[in-house]
Amino acid sequence: MIQLGDPAPDFTAETTAGPIRFHQWMGDGWAVLFSHPKDFTPVCTTELGEVARLKPEFDKRNVKVAGLSVDPLGSHQSWADDIRETQGHALNFPLIADPDRKVSDLYGMVHPNASDTLTVRSVFVVGPDKKVKLMITYPASTGRNFEEILRVIDSLQLTSMYSVATPVNWRRGEDVIIASSVSDEDAKKKFPEGWKAPKPYLRIVPQPGERSETEAPVR
Ligand code: BEZ
Repeated sequence: MIQLGDPAPDFTAETTAGPIRFHQWMGDGWAVLFSHPKDFTPVCTTELGEVARLKPEFDKRNVKVAGLSVDPLGSHQSWADDIRETQGHALNFPLIADPDRKVSDLYGMVHPNASDTLTVRSVFVVGPDKKVKLMITYPASTGRNFEEILRVIDSLQLTSMYSVATPVNWRRGEDVIIASSVSDEDAKKKFPEGWKAPKPYLRIVPQPGERSETEAPVR
């Protein structure tokens, strides 16, 4: 079973964009690897269209996206036409064909008590260090919210650069929390403008690295 912080297993696979070796395909950036239960099914069709629509947002964050199911490559290729036709967005990221369940088994994407044969809706976010940063699992009957995945990626990328954590429902640009691991003494150096502290353990600062709208552009 894969857990947060574990190395993301490497693999080779056939995809709609040609064969890939996962780690090499990721390069120095981030990746989202997600499974869907089955081609030519309604919820999956809407999800794949949505990921295609959001592709520029993943690109902006230096995140590559790959989908996966146990269907064969020919099935993925035929289904791509339906996704474009019904969702208005053509597949613009690789869809992994995993008929022998090589990748699904590596990542624990088949949950036998949900379905013996189909992958559940798993999401893995992998960092540039090739370690697993996020895992989410949804059942077949519930389509995912991929804007939430982008929101989490914003948090993961911010917290990997600064000693902060993000509060409930946080969105990019909003205030953040100084990490509990940072002493007040160190916080004074890292956040010289100070912080709001409604409780000693709840230290709130503006998001670091975010330019305010009134600030002159950096040239
Ligand atoms: C769907 O995408 O609609 C779906 C796929 C597998 C099982 C149930 C629903």
